[in-house]
Amino acid sequence: PTDRPLAGRHVLVTAGPTHEPIDPVRYLANRSSGKQGFAIAGALAGLGARVTLIAGPVTLPTPPGVDRYDVETARQMADSVAAALPADAAVMVAAVADWHVAPATQKVKKGAAPPALVLHENPDILATLSRAPDRPALVVGFAAETERVVDHARAKLARKGCDWIVANDVSGDVMGGDSNTVHLVTPTGVEDWPRAGKGEVARRLALRIAERLRGEA
Ligand code: C5P
Repeated sequence: PTDRPLAGRHVLVTAGPTHEPIDPVRYLANRSSGKQGFAIAGALAGLGARVTLIAGPVTLPTPPGVDRYDVETARQMADSVAAALPADAAVMVAAVADWHVAPATQKVKKGAAPPALVLHENPDILATLSRAPDRPALVVGFAAETERVVDHARAKLARKGCDWIVANDVSGDVMGGDSNTVHLVTPTGVEDWPRAGKGEVARRLALRIAERLRGEA
C-alpha cells in the first residue's frame, strides 16, 4: 500500500557519535546529538521498513518500531553493521571518530608532562559497506561541511563509493539543534532542500529512499 511503501524492506541506520576510550574515565569523540539519524530511523519505520538502528552513545528514546543496538566505539559499530546485513538500504548518519587510541587500563594520572596520545585509524564503515560483496542496493552517506558543501560532498561520493550523499551545512546552529539545511548529492545531480526540521528532512529522505527502491528515482 502507498502509505507503507517500505514494507518488506530492511534498512540499516547508524547514528550518534562514537566514543573511543583513552582510559576508564576519558574518551575521544565527535560532536553529534544523534537527532537526525534517530529521526531518519523513525521515518523509515513509519513507511513500513524493518529498521536496524546502530547507535553510538546518545540520550534519545528509540523511535517506535525500530530495532536498536547500542555501541560505543567505531570498531563495535563496524562489527554491528556487518552483523546486521543483508539490508536493502543503509543510511550512515553516525559521526564516527576517525581515530582510536590503545586505552590505558587504569586512570592516567596527571604528572609533570601531559601524556601524548598515539592515534590509530578507525575503519571507514561507509566506505567498507559501499564496497562489500553483500552491499545494500542503496547506500547513503552524510557529509557535515562548513564550506563548499556540495563540492566536498561530490568528492566524498566518489571516495566512499556510496550512491547518495546527504550534504549537511553545519556552519550555523545545526549541531544539537532541531533543523537542518541539506543537499541531496547523487552521481547525476544535486537537489537543494529547503531548511527544515530534522523530522521533515527525515521524512523527505525516507520517501526518496522508498521511490528509489521501487525503481522510480
Ligand atoms: O569522511 P567523513 O567522516 O566526512 O564521512 C562522513 C560519512 O562517512 C558519514 O556518512 C559517516 O557516517 C561515514 N563514516 C563512517 N565511518 C567512518 C567515518 C565516516 O561510516 N569511520
